Amino acid sequence: MDKLCVTGNGPLRGAVRVSGAKNAALPILCSSLLVKAPVTFTNVPQLNDTRTIVRLLNQMGVTAARTETHRIEIDASTLAKPVAEYDLVKTMRASVLVLGPLVARWGEARVSLPGGCAIGQRPVDQHLKGLEAMGAEVTLDGGYINARAPGGRLKGARIVMDMVTVTGTENIMMAATLADGVTVIENAAREPEVVDLANCLIAMGANIKGAGTDSITITGVEDLHTATYRVMPDRIEAGTFACAVAAVGGEITLLDAPVASMEAILDKLRDAGCSISINGTSITIARKGPLKAVSVKTAPYPAFPTDMQAQLMAMNVVAEGTAVMTENIFENRMMHVSELSRLGANIEVTGNTAVVQGVASLKGANVMATDLRASASLVIAGLCASGTTMIDRIYHLDRGYEHIEDKLIGLGATIERIST
Ligand code: UD1
Repeated sequence: MDKLCVTGNGPLRGAVRVSGAKNAALPILCSSLLVKAPVTFTNVPQLNDTRTIVRLLNQMGVTAARTETHRIEIDASTLAKPVAEYDLVKTMRASVLVLGPLVARWGEARVSLPGGCAIGQRPVDQHLKGLEAMGAEVTLDGGYINARAPGGRLKGARIVMDMVTVTGTENIMMAATLADGVTVIENAAREPEVVDLANCLIAMGANIKGAGTDSITITGVEDLHTATYRVMPDRIEAGTFACAVAAVGGEITLLDAPVASMEAILDKLRDAGCSISINGTSITIARKGPLKAVSVKTAPYPAFPTDMQAQLMAMNVVAEGTAVMTENIFENRMMHVSELSRLGANIEVTGNTAVVQGVASLKGANVMATDLRASASLVIAGLCASGTTMIDRIYHLDRGYEHIEDKLIGLGATIERIST
């Protein structure tokens, strides 16, 4: 199991290119199941999660391969078995994103239930409720979801989501593209990755209006067609580097950044004392003076994302003052707190709220990554700490960050991957 050895080494400097967005790439790769022709996606990050989706598609008989570093070509006309097996789904919850496209295109699907995960229970009831509203017969048996569209085609419906769910909105939006009639998703997720998926589906011939608002209208069409689509850049990866330079100090430029989708993150960094300048798709973040603690409450887009809570906490740990951080999306997303404390952080958690009292310095220690974004927070804290921080279980990090150590080394950090 690989480990990362991070040695605190002063300010970060230089430029780093932002990779394609994991959370946009995953549904976009799954959207290929809606098309009986080859499709091409570019700017697809090389991550364990994108590899998992390709393997999942291959298991179904779909031809899917990475033809260049960031280019994946998929031909789902060879789909033989609309089944997503437990062995892959259990490694990545987002595998459930094949459900909507499979039922829409194949008339039926059998997809393993993803189960809970470290950060919370994460049920998929809203995905199933949406498909049922569109006429699907859904049963659960032996840990699998079985869904079938009577007559082979889903029907348009008005669906009011009980809560804002990103993959739930994406699953239903994809299913609705080939349904008979009009589907309206109310209380839809407004995340930029939902908009990116909608733009991809539109490029394939889908009729979608309102993506990016809380009401999305999809008018079903008979068929979607071949397309080439470029995945948007990753606002969470970009935000992670931004928090790193805020915490450690220095000046970095993020190239090819999704500027418009990063307002909530950049606002917090400004409040923390960073200077931020934007030039087209480049963002330069500098922190030369003192760092101030910033309080935050996570909430669906356009508010501050839960996927940035751990990284902002790592920054607050070394800031002046006290930050109150409230996690409103997942019930167990504070696992990084005990690991950050091993480095000397002063954090008290009550329920879903952490009170972070900034400390003057951190000291390297052995820590364990517990989930994807928690791992990123440990890297940031390790960069701030004196001495060496050894981060175990970094397979979490490899699920969602492309070459993170190489990118940080390019900014002057001292990081080594240790393969055992
Ligand atoms: C997506 C992102 C993840 C991010 C999260 C919230 C992907 C691949 N993953 O996850 O990185 O942290 O959005 O921005 O895009 N819920 C239900 N029933 C459902 C669906 C969701 O109760 O059927 C609850 C969840 O348990 C959670 C909340 O709704 O408390 C939001 O979850 P959701 O937006 O669905 O997260 P994901 O789409 O799984």
